[in-house]
Amino acid sequence: MSALPRSLPRFRPMRAIDLEGVAAIECHIYTHPWTIGNFRDSLDAGYSCWVLESDGALTGYGVLMMGIDEAHLLNLSIARARQREGLGGLLLDFYIGRARDMGARAMFLEVRPSNLAGRSLYRRAGVRELAMRRNYYPAVTGREDAILMGLDL
Ligand SMILES: CC(C)(COP(=O)(O)OP(=O)(O)OC[C@H]1O[C@@H](n2cnc3c(N)ncnc32)[C@H](O)[C@@H]1OP(=O)(O)O)[C@@H](O)C(=O)NCCC(=O)NCCS
Repeated sequence: MSALPRSLPRFRPMRAIDLEGVAAIECHIYTHPWTIGNFRDSLDAGYSCWVLESDGALTGYGVLMMGIDEAHLLNLSIARARQREGLGGLLLDFYIGRARDMGARAMFLEVRPSNLAGRSLYRRAGVRELAMRRNYYPAVTGREDAILMGLDL
């Protein structure tokens, strides 16, 4: 018997009621996860916080901060069990579209050099590696640099 077809992924604004589910995914996929408080602050600050639902379940989320004419992608995450299905690419395309619609002329983000999945995802979407920010992230031992990446919109 063939598997049931998956329903189309759906984007909707993140709400306070989502925060526990978001934080649960976050803890599962990052060595240094954002806290519920970080997400709540992002909502309160009016950042562009969206979730991706697939098959009725919270499957991914992102946080985008808008400046005058540039956007900064602060978080982009897909639940571990649903990675490598194209959802991260969909979520990134969604945010590129949002940043453009909100008037940004460029979008920036940071990624750990050790995050090969993230770097590959961004490169594939045309986001370029621009510079290294030294000792940017906490790491298991000491600190880790960040690669600053950017995309002209
Ligand atoms: C990075 C992340 C968002 C990718 O999401 P995803 O749904 O698995 O990505 P997709 O299935 O859309 O894959 C798109 C591309 O990303 C790259 N990619 C994704 N996972 C990868 C992996 N494990 N190894 C290497 N490349 C990978 C590939 O280029 C892939 O294209 P391909 O499938 O044609 O090879 C996901 O792995 C994640 O949430 N990781 C933890 C959080 C994180 O690191 N976020 C980014 C922080 S800057």
